[in-house]
Amino acid sequence: MGHQQLMQITAQKLQQHFANEAVHLLGLGCGDASLTAKMTRELSLASYTAVDLVESVLAMARQNMTRPDLEIHFFQSNIFEPLPVKSSYNLVFSSFAIHHGSLEEKQALFSEIRKRAEPGCPFFMIDAIRLEDQSRDQYLESVSQYFKGISVLEGDWQNFVLEHVNQFDFPESVEQFREIGEQTQWQLMDHHILEELPDYPVALMSFQAK
Ligand SMILES: C[S@@+](CC[C@H](N)C(=O)[O-])C[C@H]1O[C@@H](n2cnc3c(N)ncnc32)[C@H](O)[C@@H]1O
Repeated sequence: MGHQQLMQITAQKLQQHFANEAVHLLGLGCGDASLTAKMTRELSLASYTAVDLVESVLAMARQNMTRPDLEIHFFQSNIFEPLPVKSSYNLVFSSFAIHHGSLEEKQALFSEIRKRAEPGCPFFMIDAIRLEDQSRDQYLESVSQYFKGISVLEGDWQNFVLEHVNQFDFPESVEQFREIGEQTQWQLMDHHILEELPDYPVALMSFQAK
């Protein structure tokens, strides 16, 4: 899904932004955090707080993010409900989790994380998006073509993936995210859509807390 490529771009942006500054990172839908571990390798990461629905992936995340002198906090929770986190963060990151929420849930999440973010805090989001003027049905059709074209993904697996996408993917366009940001005091600074994947549009969006 071009995941690694967008993570590398994010890692470069993070190094430029933070240099040697201490980073307090909030991760949303962290999964096993293996890519977050790589992405933050060159940063002075002081604390990592992360939320995911699934206990078993949080256990993996704990292992992957164990580093000397790093404070870690993991919460099994739904990111579309009030977050169980208390501190203030100077970096927020999420990849491939936020598209699971409805438009209202995404708005509420942006508002919620703004309350936990220091002014100027960057929020990097890598996620599936809808192209401008693409309806959800058109998105689902396009993604279905994408997965049907992957020959190693056969039969049951293909059906499983497509059912998951049909049930859980509610991507928004970049413009819609810009608007959500405007409503919730996050400015969309720039975005990068992966050109290599026209049938499965994926973007890195960089917001900054106003
Ligand atoms: C596709 S995985 C991505 C994991 C990780 N962010 C990465 O990029 O490698 C999506 C993750 O989001 C989590 N997730 C999905 N919906 C969630 C929700 N409503 N609240 C918390 N976590 C959620 C899943 O449990 C899963 O670990």
